[in-house]
Amino acid sequence: MPYDPTSQSNLDEIRTNHIHLALTVDFAAKALTGSVELELEAITSNVSKVVLDTSYIDVRSVSTQGHVLKFNLEKRHEKYGSALSIELAKPLAKNESTKVTIEYATTQECTACQWLEPSQTVGKKHPYLFTQCQAIHARSLLPCQDSPSMKLTYTADITAPLRAVMSAVPKGEDKHKNGTTTFKFEQCQRVPSYLIALAVGNLESREIGPRSTVWTEPEVMEAAAWEFVDTENFIRTGEELLTPYDWGRYDLLVLPASFPYGGMENPCLTFVTPSLLAGDRSLVDVVAHEIAHSWMGNLVTTENWEHFWLNEGFTVFVERKILGRMKGKEHSEFSAILGYKALQESVDLYGKEHPFTALRPCLRGEDPDDAFSRVPYEKGFNLLYYLEKHLGGPEVFEPYLRAHVQEFAGRSINTDDWKAFLYSFMEKTFGQEKVDLLNKVDWDTWLVGTGMPPFDNRFDDTLAKACTCLCKKWDSSRHDTHPSGFAPEDIAKFSSTQTVVFLEKMSELEPLPHKHLDEMDRLYRLTTVRNSEIRLRWHLLCLKADYEKIYPEVTAFASSMGRMKMARPLLRSLYKAKNGADLARETFLTHKSFYHPIAAAMIAKDLGLAK
Ligand code: BES
Ligand code: ZN
Repeated sequence: MPYDPTSQSNLDEIRTNHIHLALTVDFAAKALTGSVELELEAITSNVSKVVLDTSYIDVRSVSTQGHVLKFNLEKRHEKYGSALSIELAKPLAKNESTKVTIEYATTQECTACQWLEPSQTVGKKHPYLFTQCQAIHARSLLPCQDSPSMKLTYTADITAPLRAVMSAVPKGEDKHKNGTTTFKFEQCQRVPSYLIALAVGNLESREIGPRSTVWTEPEVMEAAAWEFVDTENFIRTGEELLTPYDWGRYDLLVLPASFPYGGMENPCLTFVTPSLLAGDRSLVDVVAHEIAHSWMGNLVTTENWEHFWLNEGFTVFVERKILGRMKGKEHSEFSAILGYKALQESVDLYGKEHPFTALRPCLRGEDPDDAFSRVPYEKGFNLLYYLEKHLGGPEVFEPYLRAHVQEFAGRSINTDDWKAFLYSFMEKTFGQEKVDLLNKVDWDTWLVGTGMPPFDNRFDDTLAKACTCLCKKWDSSRHDTHPSGFAPEDIAKFSSTQTVVFLEKMSELEPLPHKHLDEMDRLYRLTTVRNSEIRLRWHLLCLKADYEKIYPEVTAFASSMGRMKMARPLLRSLYKAKNGADLARETFLTHKSFYHPIAAAMIAKDLGLAK
């Protein structure tokens, strides 16, 4: 029986096999209007109602084959929205199917959608709409059984004045006399609701590989097509490691700057932030990550958000395997070192006994957005990395990874399912010796313990050494009246990730005197760097030292970059810095409409402006 504490649907009585969306995009009203048809099937006997998740949706009517059905929109649950209870025409026997059509419209409160004014786009001429459904925002895009335990196929007809793209395969378009077009889509693999995605805007496409096209506003096309040339190599490396890529196309959509994440693995069409366009291909690991989700997350899906690590921990593990195969082991290990630091920061931010620092937290009554952190990513990665070494290395573990995908493809699983298969595969393939090893694992501490992982993996630090060395040199200069012995050459040969690690290490120390920061900036030109990851770390280092010169840079960056990984720590640190609190709040409030609703809600909490 699927269990999902964050859905109000009767998942144990009825399932959705397919949905068809017919929506019109109304930019003037900032609303999607139309209908969804759900193909439902009873999974127990005598099922007389279906309960769907909705959030701030205006439900207009419910019917089945032209007959009106009674429905009730229940009182809103603060975090999970309003359950929509529909009385079926007659009780269904087990395995019996029915179709239900709901006429509805989205409202301004719907958290999945961001409606951008022309001024908020790159081209400034046309409006733009995009959705972000993970984790539980699909219910504000359409009434549905909004749980990752429920996988369905979907089709859609989207009528819009500008090009529409979705997490599906395009199936033609009909132009209308009034200037709008109906774009048709089909996703014929079963996907969970959180992978339904739509974007509408002034979009162009260009081929970047045999199965890949990049979509962007025309102004960014050149940069995007150049940055993501390695896409096909990532996919092929993933296929060598796991199974053939199963989704037909792998396209990329580069969104406007308010996109709240680095990337989102919407099937057939990954959404990415424009902050990846560094001009040197140094941030494309995010694309490798989203490609890895094609297996881990999109084929093998977590049953509910408590087992989110099965999506993200596995994906980070595969992402680093791809990186290691393409660029060498020292690069993937360096990425693991960086990840471990991020994990430490998440644990410090929550506190090491906080329940959300457990790999498998309890989410009953909780909003998954509040539980989101690097813990499932990096603690999950560290568990898999540890298991790989412990069980005998890649020769043992890579065949297992492939078997895991083959076993669970198309299904939703939890941590117990995962562990049971790990045991049975190891026993069947390698015998009792591996089972004995598995029995030695401290499962409880790994899976339910809070704080940092119980085992300290040793990562190859070849690429980290130079960063540590330079950091020490600055540290020991802190009492000099004039820091000397530094030069632009110190970082000239660094990769951008090495510069990031150097700055992160500096941030761990007592803040440097301001004249040292002046000198560091004069030599390394950090304030003018465009690379978003370096810029972020430089700003954070300066904020920690209450270096007020950087404040205008911080407010400019945080109000033009909606990616939460960047905007949230920037505004949080500014809020804590000397004379920064009012400035942080003012920056956020002035630019509130720039942020996606999900980001705006999180930042408001960070700055003490909401609960
Ligand atoms: N699926 C996530 C993004 C996400 C997670 C959205 C939870 C909403 C709720 C995506 O694959 C991701 O992990 N993105 C990272 C990329 C990074 C780890 C390489 C990001 O956005 O930074
Ligand atoms: Zn991910």
